[in-house]
Amino acid sequence: MDLGIRGRTAIVCASSQGLGRGCAHALAEAGVSLVINGRNAALLEETAAEIRSAWGVSVTPVLADVSTAAGQAALLTACPNPDILINNNGGPPVRDFRELNREALLTGVTMNMVTPIELIQKVINSMSSRGFGRIVNITSISVKMPLAGLDLSSGARAGLTAFMAGVARTVADKNVTINNLLPGSFDTARLRSNLSLAAKRASMSDADAAARSMANIPAKRFGTPAEFGQTCAFLCSVHAGFITGQNILLDGGAYPAAF
Ligand SMILES: NC(=O)c1ccc[n+]([C@@H]2O[C@H](COP(=O)([O-])OP(=O)(O)OC[C@H]3O[C@@H](n4cnc5c(N)ncnc54)[C@H](OP(=O)(O)O)[C@@H]3O)[C@@H](O)[C@H]2O)c1
Repeated sequence: MDLGIRGRTAIVCASSQGLGRGCAHALAEAGVSLVINGRNAALLEETAAEIRSAWGVSVTPVLADVSTAAGQAALLTACPNPDILINNNGGPPVRDFRELNREALLTGVTMNMVTPIELIQKVINSMSSRGFGRIVNITSISVKMPLAGLDLSSGARAGLTAFMAGVARTVADKNVTINNLLPGSFDTARLRSNLSLAAKRASMSDADAAARSMANIPAKRFGTPAEFGQTCAFLCSVHAGFITGQNILLDGGAYPAAF
């Protein structure tokens, strides 16, 4: 399918690996010029080179912490008027909520709620005035379903979701859409490191912990960053202009509800 976005520009935050990288690849495949981002220079350059050589689009790597004002400024200097913004960031570590002090709480809220809101504030007027904009926030299945030890992630992302539910309706008539993608379990470095922690706690091997986790998913497997990225690219396409303010689960059936 031609997504109709060839020649558009996108900022894909936190995209040197994992889900962000999957989104960057899929947008590049659709002909979108990219700004990609991460804090590890070698990984970021490697991903930029890989995307350029796979899809022949322009890819500008921005080495920055997206949670900081300086990091956001660097992203917007590289691409002042993006047509597409993919909000992504690291997630808070798995931790019992009793262990979170005020600083840790505020850091989590900054990463997963304040940062995407700040970036949206900075791009939404220019998207609206040009009559095209696609904003996708990578959140989590934990917005709908509690995950042990990820309460801060759930709370901050639910805050973002509620905040954007109103904002999305204010720009829908300008062909600017804002949607959230809710990943279940996707095979990324973060998932593998969380599984490794769980394996240590349960005195089992990483492979057994992964198998146990997959067994709880109706699809009996983890998702791939590539399939996540393709869904994201579709939401950014010309065909998805009537989809806005939505929360789209990609979880292999893990969320056990009819609606
Ligand atoms: N994978 C899953 O199953 C899953 C499920 C639910 C929710 N999520 C959420 O989805 C998001 C992405 O997860 P993932 O699995 O793709 O993680 P990942 O494999 O660890 O990749 C994270 C990416 O973000 C970059 N990054 C992290 N913090 C950053 C920062 N402050 N500034 C700029 N770049 C940053 C990392 O590069 P550097 O470290 O070099 O900066 C890396 O490129 C996370 O918020 C995670 O909690 C993931």
